[in-house]
Amino acid sequence: MRNVYESDHPLVKHKLTILRDKTTDPRKFRELVREISILLAYEATRDLAVAPTPVETPMGATTGALLQERIGLVPILRAGLGMVEGVWEMMPGSEVWHIGLFRDERTLQPVEYYNKLPVSPTVQICIVLDPMLATGGSATATVGILKEWGAERIKFMGIIAAPEGIKTLHQTHPDVDIHLAAVDERLNDIGYIVPGLGDAGDRQFGTG
Ligand code: PRP
Ligand code: URA
Repeated sequence: MRNVYESDHPLVKHKLTILRDKTTDPRKFRELVREISILLAYEATRDLAVAPTPVETPMGATTGALLQERIGLVPILRAGLGMVEGVWEMMPGSEVWHIGLFRDERTLQPVEYYNKLPVSPTVQICIVLDPMLATGGSATATVGILKEWGAERIKFMGIIAAPEGIKTLHQTHPDVDIHLAAVDERLNDIGYIVPGLGDAGDRQFGTG
């Protein structure tokens, strides 16, 4: 599928394997989510615009390159929170805009409960962060909210996706690049990704 990118980086594969392991405790889980997010951000930001910029080194003058566009990181609460810190460290000039959605366990439909976006967009590129793309409902709704807000370029960064979620997000928003650590087999009958890693929010925050 065009503009769906699954990382083939050995570091991502290694860290993802430990992340999936059911014996990995919340502290280690959070550390891995942070590290995998940094690695994925490296791949997802490959096409950001830079401007040639003069710089004086201790040895003389040269021309460097600085990021041109204002970037907004948009974590979907709760589980997306764990992805923010590492990505923000890589792009400290970014703004962070939180969107709160939870999945109704019965209908699997996203329910919005928090949105602090300002009236008009303040950034040129939004990167939506959520470790799990399951049915795709939450990511698709979030991209819809951002488009209605006026966001022009949107990317989605997740850790594990089900084919069903990719299809829904891609069909509804074909312009959105999707960056993932892994595409798994399927959803089970209660909407969880198999083999997946279980509930990403619960495993990060020690709940559930
Ligand atoms: C999880 C996950 C995604 C959503 C994915 O959040 O973090 O936001 O489910 O499922 P979908 O693709 O079928 O919409 P959840 O609703 O469990 O809330 P939480 O992050 O607060 O735990
Ligand atoms: N949300 C999760 O946290 N895990 C899944 O497998 C599906 C949705």
